[in-house]
Amino acid sequence: MNSRVKVVVTGAAGQIAYSLIPRLLDGKTFGDKTVDLVLVEIPQVVDKLEGVVMELEDSSFEHMGVVSYTDNFEEAARDADWFLLVGSIPRGIVYEGKKIEERSDLLKINGGIFVAQGEAIGKYGKANAKVLVVGNPANTNALIGKKSSGVNTQLWMAMTMLDSSRAKSVISKKLGCSIVDVKKMIIWGNHSPTMYPDVENAQVGNKSVGVIVDDMDWVENEFLPTVQQRGKAVIDARGASSATSAAKAALDTVIACEKPTKAGDCFSAAVASDGAYDVPEGLICGYPLMTMEDGSVEIIRDIALSEFAKSKFALSIAELESERDAVKHLL
Ligand code: NAD
Ligand code: LMR
Repeated sequence: MNSRVKVVVTGAAGQIAYSLIPRLLDGKTFGDKTVDLVLVEIPQVVDKLEGVVMELEDSSFEHMGVVSYTDNFEEAARDADWFLLVGSIPRGIVYEGKKIEERSDLLKINGGIFVAQGEAIGKYGKANAKVLVVGNPANTNALIGKKSSGVNTQLWMAMTMLDSSRAKSVISKKLGCSIVDVKKMIIWGNHSPTMYPDVENAQVGNKSVGVIVDDMDWVENEFLPTVQQRGKAVIDARGASSATSAAKAALDTVIACEKPTKAGDCFSAAVASDGAYDVPEGLICGYPLMTMEDGSVEIIRDIALSEFAKSKFALSIAELESERDAVKHLL
């Protein structure tokens, strides 16, 4: 097994990255592997990364390899195994005189970033590189990046792990169980208010959470809106977009891809549809996934969806299609 892994993190001077970067080196995410890190920022703030690197050096991480920083993404991308694409503008801020309220407002601002980064990943990243897009709107940014890369052996994902963790948290409070008891917490569709967190297929003790709760009113009017709108609730409460929970979710996604998924469970991320569950091919859609023994990540294809679930999922697919149409000049 390769004992080194090269990881590129964009938006490395931002909020999420400050929580994320040290934990890539702590031996939990990549186990015993030595982690070589390249931190990427825009030219205006790249110098701040000198301070981040100083702190990493001062932290005595046993698994830290070569750490560098740059504003040149192409240089950063060379032979990288993992790309954590965090760099982009969050909502909740004022941009060119307009308060950015919805993730879809970010499409025009952030979409372009992923053309150049996608091209560089395709050209310089490892042929089996894994890419996790965190920057919003994550699914459509990943669509742009994947299309621009032109390489089908690389895995492009958009992050829905945070939504899955939020859903597990709400369920564990409702049922008075530990969060680790909640399995198969699938997020279907887009990382947006149209996402469909699937209570019916989630399990506690091998039983459907939907069956245990037995309260569709709670599912529809409390559970779904709480999870779907949690990003906004955090922004309203904190005055800034979720950061430490987003970093944890990014780490959990990497960990989920680095080791085989346990039988009877799955993890959540959005990947390119190959027509699975009748989603138009190419859309980057939230699916139940599992990592196989050989390290490949597969969509789990035998999950049954109720009519209720199908109707909710359809709304999210329609939104992904409209986002795709809005960026067709970038595809
Ligand atoms: P932030 O503003 O604190 O940091 C973003 C950083 O990205 C900034 O330092 C900025 O200079 C940098 N950046 C911008 N363009 C770049 C580029 N082209 N290359 C490299 N770096 C670039 O924001 P944050 O709180 O860290 O959030 C980052 C993104 O993550 C936002 O888009 C936010 O909406 C998104 N987010 C996603 C999820 C999710 O679940 N998918 C959760 C939380 C936040
Ligand atoms: C989140 O879900 O917290 C992020 O996508 C940030 C946001 O804008 O909601």
